[in-house]
Amino acid sequence: MLEVQNLSVHIQGKQVLRQVSLTVPKGKVVGIIGESGSGKSVLCSTILQLFRKDRKAAGTIKFNGDCLLSLEEKKMRSLRGKEIALIMQNPMSMFNPLVTIGGHFIETLQAHTSMTKKQAIKIAKEQLALFQLNDVDVLKKYPHELSGGMLQRIMIAISASLEPKLLLADEPTTALDTMTQLEIVKELKKLQAKTKMSILIVSHDLGVIANLAEEIIVMRRGVVVEYGPASHILLHPIHPYTKTLVAARDEHSTLDELNDKYEDTVSGELVLYDENHWVRMEDSSR
Ligand SMILES: Nc1ncnc2c1ncn2[C@@H]1O[C@H](COP(=O)(O)OP(=O)(O)O)[C@@H](O)[C@H]1O
Ligand SMILES: [Mg+2]
Repeated sequence: MLEVQNLSVHIQGKQVLRQVSLTVPKGKVVGIIGESGSGKSVLCSTILQLFRKDRKAAGTIKFNGDCLLSLEEKKMRSLRGKEIALIMQNPMSMFNPLVTIGGHFIETLQAHTSMTKKQAIKIAKEQLALFQLNDVDVLKKYPHELSGGMLQRIMIAISASLEPKLLLADEPTTALDTMTQLEIVKELKKLQAKTKMSILIVSHDLGVIANLAEEIIVMRRGVVVEYGPASHILLHPIHPYTKTLVAARDEHSTLDELNDKYEDTVSGELVLYDENHWVRMEDSSR
């Protein structure tokens, strides 16, 4: 499905991602956790080939046989939204304030299919029902008339309406309160179970990742420090940074507080620790 190999990205001469490799198999949920600034969003937008001209990317990104780094823009545009969808932290920024929710559904669906307005509205209603958003007349509402949690659910519903094969969810719950976060996680789980789509979910909240992902990738300063089955990572973290992360989960400290505590550089090579479990080993710890 998605295979990223040795991806390095430079922005304005600064290296932001270094030799990142990961796989999102068909129908699986893979989670990425890492402090802010570790390169998670750059990874997502590079997969989608956004800001192509402003970045220098090396390595390979394969999606269903296509090499995205060298794919022509026209073909890439047909994949975005239709095959690979992106949902982001702040749903408000993804909506046009002058367009109703129904209008957003119509725009999205018509951009990728030859559907009529009527057909698009029918799909929109089905999607909203799936997300239990049919109780109020959401389609006629403008974005500012709805709460952040509601908009995030609608954003997911709109993305899902094109039945993408891969969903990139970049901190989809970060701007929301705990209750709403839980709801969104539940919706994503339901959606995944129904559609069997692959999901790459990014968060700096280990709780969210632990709840959804079968595999976890731990990132720090543009590199992968540990990568493996969720159960291994959560129960037997190996890298000192992952250990601190997992321990902090019980103490409810935020990742950025943690970052201040854990202040050494990332070095060493990624080595296979256990079946499918990779850890960046510093020379001294080997
Ligand atoms: N447009 C940009 N111009 C310059 N630097 C950028 C740009 N976007 C991201 N970066 C740098 O890339 C690094 C990773 O950013 P980002 O992927 O947004 O982190 P995360 O999503 O993990 O919080 C940061 O150090 C940031 O300064
Ligand atoms: Mg980010």
